[in-house]
Amino acid sequence: MQSEALLDLIKRRRSVRRYDSRPVENEKILLLLEAIRLAPSSCNIQPWRVVVVDDGEMIRRLSYCAPIGTRVNRWMETAPLVFVLCADPHAVLHRAAGWVGSDCHDLDIGIAGEHLCLMATALGLGSCWIGWFSQRDVRKLLAVPRNIEIKALVSVGYPAAGIELDKPSGSENHRRSVNELAWRGRFQGAALAVSQESAGEQ
Ligand SMILES: Cc1cc2nc3c(=O)[nH]c(=O)nc-3n(C[C@H](O)[C@H](O)[C@H](O)COP(=O)(O)O)c2cc1C
Repeated sequence: MQSEALLDLIKRRRSVRRYDSRPVENEKILLLLEAIRLAPSSCNIQPWRVVVVDDGEMIRRLSYCAPIGTRVNRWMETAPLVFVLCADPHAVLHRAAGWVGSDCHDLDIGIAGEHLCLMATALGLGSCWIGWFSQRDVRKLLAVPRNIEIKALVSVGYPAAGIELDKPSGSENHRRSVNELAWRGRFQGAALAVSQESAGEQ
């Protein structure tokens, strides 16, 4: 039953790029931050540092923090909230993880960010990851110190009229099937025995 509820939540999450002007209640913002706080991280270092931007003018200015001439995320202006997900990568253990070939703080931020998006869905809020931004411009706008890396922005807010979060988004129709992305035993080894339905085959 729990797994069904989780799968339902995962299916309802989608990228929302049009928001209602209604502000997000403070209790919900705190729950979103709690979902970030409880994420796992390499060696439990918890490298997440988050700036919650809720000022309309600042969000408008954030939407201009794009690589030159490419303001593709101008829709961001409609969001009442933007979470700026940063990492403090300077913990010694993280450097050690880097030496063995895994950039753990990137993974940590990714996990925490998806906790945020799933909690947003559970709260009836839309969200969207934003990776297309100018790190330099965001740093300047929000006074982020040099030693902190800005990894992603995530917009959050009530979806605009017409965007329903209470039913599956249909995203499974746009995903690879399980047999195209996973194998048993070795890379591109034997196909796993999965049902037609869960393999995503039509
Ligand atoms: C790391 C990351 C960066 C992304 N950057 C952007 C972005 O800059 N602008 C945007 O509109 N969507 C962005 N997206 C959203 C993806 O386009 C979206 O997740 C994907 O198309 C699947 O659609 P869905 O989220 O509705 O399931 C990003 C997603 C991720 C995970």
